[in-house]
Amino acid sequence: MSDKNGFAICQNGFEALTRDELADLRNVKPLTHSPGCVMYSGKLNNCVFPHFFANNSEILEDTGVKTLAGRIFDYFINNTLNIKFESSWHAVFLDSRAEPGLSRRMKSIKDAFFEILKKRMSRVSKLMVDDFPKKPGDHIGLLVYVTDFNKLNIAVNFHYNGQCRMADDPLAPSRSYLKVEEGYRVLEHSPLQNDLVVDLGAAPGGWSFSAAKRGATVFAIDNGPLKKGALQWDTIIHKKNDAFKFVPHTRMDWLFCDLVEEPHHVMQMISQWFANRWCRSFVINFKFGHVNPIKLISELEHAGGLLMPHTNNAKVVHLYHDRDEVTLVGTLKN
Ligand SMILES: C[S@@+](CC[C@H](N)C(=O)[O-])C[C@H]1O[C@@H](n2cnc3c(N)ncnc32)[C@H](O)[C@@H]1O
Repeated sequence: MSDKNGFAICQNGFEALTRDELADLRNVKPLTHSPGCVMYSGKLNNCVFPHFFANNSEILEDTGVKTLAGRIFDYFINNTLNIKFESSWHAVFLDSRAEPGLSRRMKSIKDAFFEILKKRMSRVSKLMVDDFPKKPGDHIGLLVYVTDFNKLNIAVNFHYNGQCRMADDPLAPSRSYLKVEEGYRVLEHSPLQNDLVVDLGAAPGGWSFSAAKRGATVFAIDNGPLKKGALQWDTIIHKKNDAFKFVPHTRMDWLFCDLVEEPHHVMQMISQWFANRWCRSFVINFKFGHVNPIKLISELEHAGGLLMPHTNNAKVVHLYHDRDEVTLVGTLKN
């Protein structure tokens, strides 16, 4: 069975929000869905919830590992006839983790495919990278999403939105540390030595710790206490102020904001930061627990809204490490 629909891969449990995003914001038609994957018809250009998407894909079904791997190879060769691989390309294999043993099955299929590729296209196989692309954007390579033991979605042209599971640091005072680290990856930019950072809602200090590790000086704004690794840096200056009233003494290189507050309240406050050019780059988290997430994304992305007119390249994304929240990353116009 095959079709030419698209598929979008999202965090498990966020399929319904992905469907709503596609239908309400992206003008494409969601079709069926399975854990971590939404099929659609139409052309998707950008998105918040999907980590990867491919507008032109097929579904391959077969019962054996080797036969499936052979069919992946046939698909790859038939769909890259006009492409000359001269630099590295990425083969991304993922699975829905919906059934025990599925990840092992995916790995067996992947290894069997790599064997065939090595034998049949040695030069192309040497250029292959078995990992996520380093940069978000459009890629030509191979995207495979294994939905059950005998079935997968496949595409050679795909978009990577930048989400990635990040490596933890035992000294990081919170799991939230992983979010800001992932935010840098989506933005393709991170704090540098001697940068100035304001971290609104900093405690226990994961985001501050992340910037201090890179040599930045951080003003950590929170009434709550900093903990663990965040206490080891004298370049983290803890200020027990109200984040909504804090005004920086000079322009900051970075604004971090991770407040557990009503998102429109946060958006209003951030609009002051943006309008006054109090920062250059930003990573800002909006919790959507009590509001409609699709409406919130539409307000955040609105070209004439409170935030976008001030930015160059801002992007709203649902990070791998986000739960009921989305993250805005970008830089301000000068
Ligand atoms: C999710 S936690 C931040 C976690 C932090 N990013 C980290 O990596 O450890 C939210 C923080 O916002 C703080 N907060 C909430 N409202 C605030 C306000 N008006 N002013 C300052 N801090 C506030 C809370 O005290 C809490 O520590």
